[in-house]
Amino acid sequence: MHQSIEHLRADTTSVVVDVSRGIPVILHWGAALSQDPTQWQQGIPAHGTIDVVAPISMVPMHGDGFAGRPGLQVHRRGGRHWSPRFRAAEHAVTRIDGGLVLESRAIDEVSESEIIGRLHLADDGVLTASADFRNNSNSPVMLNSFTVTLPIVSGATELGVFAGRWSRELQLQRFSWPYGAWTSENRMGRTSHEHPPYLFALESSSDEWNGQVWGIHAAWSGNHSMYAEWMPDGRRYVQAGELFHPGEMCVYSGESLSAVDVIGVYSNSGLNGASRSFHREVRRRLPANARRVRPVHLNTWEAVYFSHDEERLSRLAEAAASVGVERFVLDDGWFGGRRNDQTGLGDWTVSSTVYPNGLAPLIAQVRNLGMEFGIWVEPEMANPDSDLLRAHPEWAATTDGYDPVMGRRQHVVDLTNPAAYEHVLSALDDLLTGHEITYVKWDMNRWHVQASGADGTAITHALTKAVYAMMDELRRRHRDVEFESCASGGGRIDFEILRRCERVWTSDCNDALERQLIQRGASMIIPAEVMGSHVGPSRSHTTGRRLSMELRGVTAMFGHMGVEADVSAMGEDELADLSHLVAVHKRFRALIHSGDAVRFETFDLTGGSALSHGVIASDRSEAIVAYVQLVTAQAAVPPPWRILGLDAARDYTVNLIPLTRATVPLSGTAADQPAWSSDSLAGRPQRVSGAFLRDIGLAPPAIWPESAVLVHLSGS
Ligand code: DGJ
Repeated sequence: MHQSIEHLRADTTSVVVDVSRGIPVILHWGAALSQDPTQWQQGIPAHGTIDVVAPISMVPMHGDGFAGRPGLQVHRRGGRHWSPRFRAAEHAVTRIDGGLVLESRAIDEVSESEIIGRLHLADDGVLTASADFRNNSNSPVMLNSFTVTLPIVSGATELGVFAGRWSRELQLQRFSWPYGAWTSENRMGRTSHEHPPYLFALESSSDEWNGQVWGIHAAWSGNHSMYAEWMPDGRRYVQAGELFHPGEMCVYSGESLSAVDVIGVYSNSGLNGASRSFHREVRRRLPANARRVRPVHLNTWEAVYFSHDEERLSRLAEAAASVGVERFVLDDGWFGGRRNDQTGLGDWTVSSTVYPNGLAPLIAQVRNLGMEFGIWVEPEMANPDSDLLRAHPEWAATTDGYDPVMGRRQHVVDLTNPAAYEHVLSALDDLLTGHEITYVKWDMNRWHVQASGADGTAITHALTKAVYAMMDELRRRHRDVEFESCASGGGRIDFEILRRCERVWTSDCNDALERQLIQRGASMIIPAEVMGSHVGPSRSHTTGRRLSMELRGVTAMFGHMGVEADVSAMGEDELADLSHLVAVHKRFRALIHSGDAVRFETFDLTGGSALSHGVIASDRSEAIVAYVQLVTAQAAVPPPWRILGLDAARDYTVNLIPLTRATVPLSGTAADQPAWSSDSLAGRPQRVSGAFLRDIGLAPPAIWPESAVLVHLSGS
């Protein structure tokens, strides 16, 4: 078969595709190629195999002789048409705003079905791969799986994936790509803390700044599977997409199903390059009406939990405004009989016990204090002890005949039932119509287990679509309202929810030390303005650790900053320090929320004692960087703090930004500090070149464990 080659080129990335088979076969995804490829080695069949080397197409097929995991697994009633094979129909490459799109149609006359493969290469190199399956016959087709496959070069010998759990999300694990397959499967009905659908393939020599890295993400908020195989013939590929329960996906006559978008980023400058591309894609996907300036939040959860009391909340609002908070978000506990986490969920009307005059007085006060008002909801769920489920027990998404497995004493609501969907939608619509609310924190706190619809079939796919539809509809009806995606913290962080949400709640853990690690992982996939990050109470509620205000503040300010503590109970000094930190965030907010987030390597004899990260303006005119001492350094003289990514030819003024109102850094006297730091404090900041910062670096500050310094670098 003759190859028919299309070469999609972007700044630093090339995607070379053979479309001769209809389903696109990516021959190269990686470094930009300067010349058109003319000949490609498809591999020579080995003895003891078959007479072809089946290509790794975007949807590789068993029927073509592909020995890995097929991208499409289907059958008709009785098991027929279980192994279709497709041939090329037509294809086209078109330039659209901001990139190139290759679309190729493949048909199978025997099974009367077709696949359309689509590759969108943005001018900045981000690849979005998607595919549609269409049933042209007059009988239904059951789909066991339909995923997108991307080939990875054989030099990428390591994988990087996020391990996670509640309160400790997004911990990058790097390991040698095993022979055979590595897989993660998620059946929790949300993106998940445990197996978020992100995967990196890396050259073993790569680090934050060097080497080739491929990042792959399945943009979907329901069940998924991520699969990486190193095949016996030496080839490697990654397959990503939705996971269906048995019988969950049926494509009826004349209908189609779209596989979830798979986002691919390629970097020849390490993990930072890959994250930068992921961030660009998130920024492109964010809702068009997302506001540029992200208001500083006060979230009531760790301040009052379920103890809602108008008087107390009013004091909290006053204290919040006094430290510079710009949006007051009323968390769980304001509605129905919701006085604890066992009752009332699902009843989205204001509790007349707690708010006899409704929410209007509190909202008016918040607005008079110059803040916006936001509210918490969990629309996909209900407690059995709720008016909603008492009236409609059939709306619980369970499976008849079995005792349901509960989670946080709540059921998933069957939003695939039109009446249930309409009920929840209109309750939320009424809430937003009846109040001056500009922000919704949309939470989701339990896994799906045996979630079935009225006919007893699995509905996670349909529920995920219903959530998207409801958010879209609410956004359409309430154009000034912004949304946050929360699922017990960071259980729903993906690029499809981020088309509808301006912010994610990164983690229920507000312990700043833990957050340094969680946010380091989060910064690999989402930009700072999306990453909800709060100053918690001095004693962390999830770890019991006591941490300084400075560390809590400097940690929270590198995201969409907020405060989640009882500010009304803080002493004068604490309040003044908090105001100072909020002001520092606001001073650098535009930079933090628009620049390139970067992570630096810090080296110690034993490693891991300090972390450093920052944000560099996209024109490299300035940067804000932090050095965080987690535990004491092993080396008596810690190695220099190299700050990469700046303009090598430019000089930068090094300004230490005090994290307390006092001007002396945490560990003691100014005399203990390196010259650049004491000079800055003395009002004589030093100037160094970007090349110096990159190649030599600054002497690290002498600071205590659990403390940090913040430096602003401004280019001349
Ligand atoms: C889980 C969230 O992650 C918390 O921030 C809080 O909103 C609680 N749910 C409320 O129930």
